[in-house]
Amino acid sequence: MISREVVLPTLFQEQRYGRVGGISISSLTGDIIRDLQGMFPAFKGYPDPDTQGTTEKHPDLFKQAIRDLPETGVVLVATPDHLHTPVIMAALEAGRHCIVEKPLCLKVDEARKIIALAEEKGLYVLTDYHKRHDRSIRAARYRFRKGELGGMLHGHAWIEEPKYMALEVFKDWAEKSSSFEYIGVHYADAYYFVTGLRPKRLVAYGQKKYLPTQGKNAYDAVQATIEWEDGSVFWIQTSWVNNAKNSAMTNQGMMLLGTMGEYWADHKNRNTHFVTDAKGYEDFNPNFFKQYDSWDFPGEADNVGYGYDSIVQGVNDVRRLNLATQGLDPAAALAERKRLIEEMSQTRALPRQALVGVAVNNAVRMSVDNGSKFVLFDEDMDLRFE
Ligand SMILES: NC(=O)c1ccc[n+]([C@@H]2O[C@H](COP(=O)([O-])OP(=O)(O)OC[C@H]3O[C@@H](n4cnc5c(N)ncnc54)[C@H](O)[C@@H]3O)[C@@H](O)[C@H]2O)c1
Repeated sequence: MISREVVLPTLFQEQRYGRVGGISISSLTGDIIRDLQGMFPAFKGYPDPDTQGTTEKHPDLFKQAIRDLPETGVVLVATPDHLHTPVIMAALEAGRHCIVEKPLCLKVDEARKIIALAEEKGLYVLTDYHKRHDRSIRAARYRFRKGELGGMLHGHAWIEEPKYMALEVFKDWAEKSSSFEYIGVHYADAYYFVTGLRPKRLVAYGQKKYLPTQGKNAYDAVQATIEWEDGSVFWIQTSWVNNAKNSAMTNQGMMLLGTMGEYWADHKNRNTHFVTDAKGYEDFNPNFFKQYDSWDFPGEADNVGYGYDSIVQGVNDVRRLNLATQGLDPAAALAERKRLIEEMSQTRALPRQALVGVAVNNAVRMSVDNGSKFVLFDEDMDLRFE
């Protein structure tokens, strides 16, 4: 879904503007490659549906795709949540930088392996937390960091999606993830991004009332209350059983209260809507990832928004790393990559920042699967039951 709707339109747009070269796409089955061939300009597909079939599964072919990448390539990982780590590790072992759809992975110990290998090899691994690029959230960070909200007291976020996500779109892996791990983590990262605070303790709740009646042993909804190192508390509610006829796919928003001010934002209703015979009433979020008439390619459309900006940040960073190390001997190139990545890590969801979201997800899963026990975080984001 995300590849077809956001990742590939972004990458092919960058290619059209001459900022990206060849693109290859790896998928589990050839039918997906065939579909994509009808939607995008030429690319190299793994598997090739003409010679390797359309329905047979090729779970390890991504390794070949990575091996075939040129040295200046970047691997964009958009496999299901629980299958990020093997692709990231294969890319790092081959010496390639990565951009990973959020969350980086689902377990703290996996994140540690990624951090260790990326740091040893001086490789860039960005987690695509696109909400960091939403100007509504950037504004909260900017003003919080200027002190306008004072000390944080509490906050609340909501992010909820329709039943068809768990039952149709993610039917193959919904039981291995949840609405919290899949989308709620966006807001755990947003709180961390805005405030710089690290989590100290959390408790999570989950309900299985509807999805099990449809043959899915998955949570309908998951909620977490996270206590942070300064004693502030952030509550996140998530669901996968909302109505398909909602005015946009995702209900979402966030409020924060500090000692000197508050922030309140409905991230679904941006005060713009369409009503058409074809689609009825739709809330329209111009900030996320929308098509607008291109200034440079008359008659065509450009994708604009934080979904685009977030991936392009990774592509641009990798280009910068490539240019800065061109012609250097391996030791000098490694030192220069490490220096630049350290600089970038101050503001971006490189693995040490992405670890916070991974740890929150991991703790939510521990809590919710164990009768809502409290889970404690230590300074290194190691977890234990209270
Ligand atoms: N940045 C965001 O806000 C955002 C939004 C949606 C999804 N995501 C993340 O993107 C990832 C993918 O989500 P999705 O919604 O596109 O899921 P999806 O199930 O629609 O797509 C997953 C894809 O992975 C492929 N795949 C699975 N195993 C593979 C293997 N061994 N080799 C090659 N390909 C393989 C499948 O063929 C499928 O095309 C998830 O981690 C999800 O959390 C991020």
